[in-house]
Amino acid sequence: MCGIVGAIAQRNIVKILIEGLRRLEYRGYDSSGLAVINDKKNLIRFREIGQVHILAKEVEKHNIVSNVGIAHTRWATHGKPSKKNAHPHISEYIAVVHNGIIENYQELREQLKKQQYIFNSETDTEVIAHLIHSEFKEGYTLIEVVKLIIPKLKGAYGIVIMDRRTPDLLVAVRYGSPLIIGLGIGENFLASDQLALLHVTHHFIYLNEGDIAEITCKKVNIVDKQGINVERKPIKVDIQYNFDNKGIYNHYMQKEIHEQPLAIKNTLHGRFDQNNNVIFTELDKKAQNILSKVEHIQIIACGTSYNAGMVARYWFESLAIISCDVEIASEYRYRKPIRRKNSLLLTICQSGETADTLAALRLSKNLNYLASLAICNVLGSSLIRESDFSLMTKAGIEISVASTKAFTTQLTVLLLLVAYLIRLQNKNILFERNIVKALYNLPFHIENIFLQEKNIKSLAKDFSSINNVLFIGRGDQFPIAVEGALKLKEISYIHAEAYPAGELKHGPLALVDTNMPVIIIAPNNKLLEKLKSNIEEIHTRGGLIYIFTDKNAGFINSKNMKIIVLPNIEEFTAPIFYIVPLQLLSYYIALIKGTNIDQPRNLAKSVTVE
Ligand code: F6R
Repeated sequence: MCGIVGAIAQRNIVKILIEGLRRLEYRGYDSSGLAVINDKKNLIRFREIGQVHILAKEVEKHNIVSNVGIAHTRWATHGKPSKKNAHPHISEYIAVVHNGIIENYQELREQLKKQQYIFNSETDTEVIAHLIHSEFKEGYTLIEVVKLIIPKLKGAYGIVIMDRRTPDLLVAVRYGSPLIIGLGIGENFLASDQLALLHVTHHFIYLNEGDIAEITCKKVNIVDKQGINVERKPIKVDIQYNFDNKGIYNHYMQKEIHEQPLAIKNTLHGRFDQNNNVIFTELDKKAQNILSKVEHIQIIACGTSYNAGMVARYWFESLAIISCDVEIASEYRYRKPIRRKNSLLLTICQSGETADTLAALRLSKNLNYLASLAICNVLGSSLIRESDFSLMTKAGIEISVASTKAFTTQLTVLLLLVAYLIRLQNKNILFERNIVKALYNLPFHIENIFLQEKNIKSLAKDFSSINNVLFIGRGDQFPIAVEGALKLKEISYIHAEAYPAGELKHGPLALVDTNMPVIIIAPNNKLLEKLKSNIEEIHTRGGLIYIFTDKNAGFINSKNMKIIVLPNIEEFTAPIFYIVPLQLLSYYIALIKGTNIDQPRNLAKSVTVE
């Protein structure tokens, strides 16, 4: 979603802001802008549509020297992508950047118009700038005015405010959208994502919900939502990431697909004891005690993380014999969910900042779950901080908007958790032993998929002028069909739908004709014979069949059928394995179609608004 960067220092901060924006580019954006107060105490603003380098070029022409500034990459919510809607928004001496949505902005806009404020944009953000301006009275400080306007704003937001008249100060507010403070020596920074500041600091303070921070070069003052001065402990973050390095790959997505064996190895590392029993050092005695009592698991997630949860449901129920429900966070948060007895809330989230998942977690606090457990890829994220316990995926930074290695490492942690629960609750230890064995072998099996990459690339040509694709699977491969369809939609813009194979004759079979490709995930498992009958139904109707399978499944090539034979894989890890060829297929189809693979249109990484 939108990205925020702010800086206050004794050196020129213009390049720091631009580099920060460049580091946020991967999250998707449509325009960017910055405002600084220069050495002559003028408030100067630049805004451009498109990529950050366009803004950088424009700013460079003006040779600006400034010690304080705010900057923004925008992902349009209110008002189309345009220069006038790009942030920062200004009301005379006040400049504001904003991440999130002000729900009552129309009402505020009307009130401000009556006070003769003129609006230059269609955004909800401009009301914040004018509202602050309108509240200033003789002797008021910026922080006092900000405190006055907060109760008037409805919605979720992270904002940073700069006042031309007090260039030694930035004020930040966190209400529903992430904001962090980067600490330097004699300089301080703000951002919506720590990655934006890794070029200047590795020391961060994560603001809590409702915090207001006053930041100068030398000091950070924070008041919490009760208005009480608070100390928030800085955390050192040891992430190193070279943003310019795709290595031998053309896209981050391609790189991240290939990083999966290593990401899975990293996720497994340190999670077995000398007897090969699963251990989670993150879970203390209290957590273990709670987990030993769990009789039901409620999974909440969005998008790809939700698909990981759908796979996990099959595993929890069939292997650990623990009942499990999975729900999309944006639905869960607006129903009246009934908590089952001895139930654990399990959230799955790559970024740890997805607005709907966080809202569902907050809602669950009133529902008396035994505990909340988060599976997440970003240390220090809101989800981790607000959950009772958490388990980290070790995917490393995922840059591509389309999630790949986050998904397979989420599944890895989920399967580890299944094995852990089996032992903790004295369930079928043979399953646990076999899960551990299968997980050990998994990175090696995925390496072998890459030996088939050329074949998958050439298969992609069949889809170059196709508009619709069906994906089908059965059992724990059905969610893999869903995830395969999601990958194809988001990066190639081809309409793709996934169905449980047994569901075809209840409707979707009507779509099958000689122009409809159907991608089938068909490993040799106990549902294979049933799946073969479904394939026959498609075949007799002339559908174009693509089967991803293994040597033992016994498929024989026939007309309108292509068979992609992959290495054999243990049943437990088969869902993690089979998504990889589908990721590759989507990647190569998108490559042929010439879409923006790493930043697909209309999408953003980390959905911090509702
Ligand atoms: C799809 C994708 C999205 C995310 C979804 C949830 O490739 O990346 O569907 O999975 O926005 O994101 P997190 O996991 O950060 O909650």
